Amino acid sequence: MNREEETIICFCEDVTEEEIVQAIEEGYTTLKEIKQHLRVGMGECQGRGCMPQIMRLISQKTGKHRELILPPSVRPPIVPVPVGLLGKIAKRGEKEE
Ligand code: FES
Repeated sequence: MNREEETIICFCEDVTEEEIVQAIEEGYTTLKEIKQHLRVGMGECQGRGCMPQIMRLISQKTGKHRELILPPSVRPPIVPVPVGLLGKIAKRGEKEE
């Protein structure tokens, strides 16, 4: 299969459906394991775009009911960060590009 025929599931990390299915078949059957193995869900959208699709694939391939597939743990910043500071960091990043 060439790259144009592949279905991209995680656009942020450029991970295909085929890669996710292969990971499940290799024994990575939880969202946490697949996230650690392929970096899905670690992109800019933090998994909002791909996690539902990955949950569907896990359910299809393992037969596990979708409600039994637990979301990966969320790790907020260690210390509270003012929202204004995040805006300044984002603006600084835009200037550097
Ligand atoms: S689509 Fe997967 S992290 Fe954004």
